[in-house]
This record gives sequence, structure tokens and C-alpha cells, in this order.
Amino acid sequence: MDLKQYVTIVEDWPKEGVRFKDITTLMDNGEAYSYATDQIVEYAKEKHIDLVVGPEARGFIIGCPVAYALKVGFAPVRKEGKLPRETVKVDYGLEYGKDVLTIHKDAIKPGQRVLITDDLLATGGTIEATIKLVEELGGVVAGCAFLIELSYLDGREKLNGYDMLRLMEF
Ligand code: PRP
Repeated sequence: MDLKQYVTIVEDWPKEGVRFKDITTLMDNGEAYSYATDQIVEYAKEKHIDLVVGPEARGFIIGCPVAYALKVGFAPVRKEGKLPRETVKVDYGLEYGKDVLTIHKDAIKPGQRVLITDDLLATGGTIEATIKLVEELGGVVAGCAFLIELSYLDGREKLNGYDMLRLMEF
């Protein structure tokens, strides 16, 4: 299946000059969404994943159906102030600004093999920060899966040494 036909390019959003890749038109198509999920599930099976971790908000949309299919848990990475219990946190830069990401301190057991999911690899700031959080808690990053890689932003460089799957490249 050619997944790209389900991604809508939105010109000049959220600011002028940006060609935003809107995945909502992929998600609201049952065949496309399940096909994309199945591709990531197959990848994850080879990696013997114990837990899926995804950054808000679109990392949840990709990761939760994968976790369900694998019958493993899902741990959310959230922006600061959203998780109610003790967290670890990391500062990160993203394509349009700066922010802080957090995860509950007890979300990952040391040695657990983690798949990180997100919709998009752009500058790589989000995945780099998420990897830091997983490793700080003793998790092993067994793989990273994205719907889309914006290869002209070189986010892949931040993934040096980590295995990754991406279903589309722009
Ligand atoms: C977007 C996207 C990725 C991240 C990719 O999320 O969903 O998580 O940016 O960019 P990067 O590789 O340059 O870090 P955003 O921070 O906009 O949050 P959202 O999913 O909650 O909208």
C-alpha cells in the first residue's frame, strides 16, 4: 500500500514556508491506519519488545495500537506538568521551539526492551529526548518506529547507533 497518498500536505502551517504533513487523513482511513500499524508490529516482533513508549500526542496514536497488538504495555512521555507522580525529565529542542519531556519514574523496569513510536522524525529532538528518558530508567531502546521521516532535516543523525523503521520519507 502506498501510504503517502493518505498524508495531506498543508502549505504554510503552522507557519509560512512549512509544508505540514497531516496524518489525520491516514488515521481516519481504517485500511491505511491498520496497514501502517501492522508494519510497525511486524518490525517490533523481531525486536522482542517488552514495552512501547511514545511522546505526546501523536506518538500515542502510533504506539497504542502497536502495544495492543503485541500484548505489551504502553508508557506515555508527556510535556512537563501532565504526569501526576514522580517523573524524570529532559529539556529538548523541537522544530518550532523548546520544551520539557517527562516520564513516570516507575514506567520502565531496568532491562526492559522498549520500542519508541512517533508519527514524525523531523529534527530528531523529540526522539533524542525520549531515548534519554528511557535509558535513564534503565530501559533498552530496541527500536524506534515512525510513520514519516523528513530526511532533509537530518534527524536520523540523532539516532546514530539505534535501529529505526520509517514507513514514509519526504
Ligand atoms: C511533533 C511530532 C514529533 C515531533 C518531531 O510533535 O509529532 O513528536 O514533533 O519533531 P522533531 O523530530 O523535530 O523533534 P509536537 O512536539 O508538535 O507535539 P504533538 O504531537 O503533541 O503535536
